[in-house]
Amino acid sequence: GRTAALIPAAGSGTRLGRGPKAFVEVGGISLLARSVAALAPLVDEVLVALPAGMDLPPGLPARAVEGGDTRQQSVARLLAATGADVVLVHDAARPFLPGAVVGALLEAVAETGAATVALPVADTLVRGEGGLRVEDVPREDLWAVQTPQAFRRELLLRAHAQARAQGVAATDDAGLVARLGFPVRLVPGDARLFKVTAPGDLALAEALTRVWDA
Ligand code: CTP
Ligand code: MG
Repeated sequence: GRTAALIPAAGSGTRLGRGPKAFVEVGGISLLARSVAALAPLVDEVLVALPAGMDLPPGLPARAVEGGDTRQQSVARLLAATGADVVLVHDAARPFLPGAVVGALLEAVAETGAATVALPVADTLVRGEGGLRVEDVPREDLWAVQTPQAFRRELLLRAHAQARAQGVAATDDAGLVARLGFPVRLVPGDARLFKVTAPGDLALAEALTRVWDA
């Protein structure tokens, strides 16, 4: 079947404070261009949700749709714009996407219908209250969820329709699919897939380009 990469890139990048985040450059290449370049060779089409009034930079092998007010709405608009059998959703804000991770994710979704990249939590976890450590949280079964995430398109459409009907908001698509009661396979991710969110992440990303682009 056909596979489409859906890239939500319509956020305003408030926490980073450098304007629309997908257009911010590290090592001279925008976060968006890096995500598109990583995915285009591995899928049949790439769709990008952009902030209203913004155009796709020239030369990117992708098709643009206008994003929504939330990430969830942006993904819903991307979903409505493709007829692919499988969709792979990836945040533009995660510019360092190893091809091997995409390969493992696509194998998993072919077997199960729903899969997300995630990293086993490495740090000790505690619950804090009023700035005090009050309780240890065992980390054995805990994963930090990343993107890309991949689904049979019909399944993700159903998950978004139910979320809309119930007024549910989630920070990721696999969360919406899990709410349907559908099992989501966890595919081991990569530390380099961190999301560029705050100014400190930009320094990390800038440093990583020197290895990544070499
Ligand atoms: N996103 C989107 N449409 C929105 C909001 C977010 O397509 N209405 C996208 C962002 O462009 C990003 C991804 O969803 O690629 C993850 O969002 P986040 O890291 O929160 O980015 P921003 O919303 O841009 O940042 P902030 O929350 O700091 O404003
Ligand atoms: Mg946001």
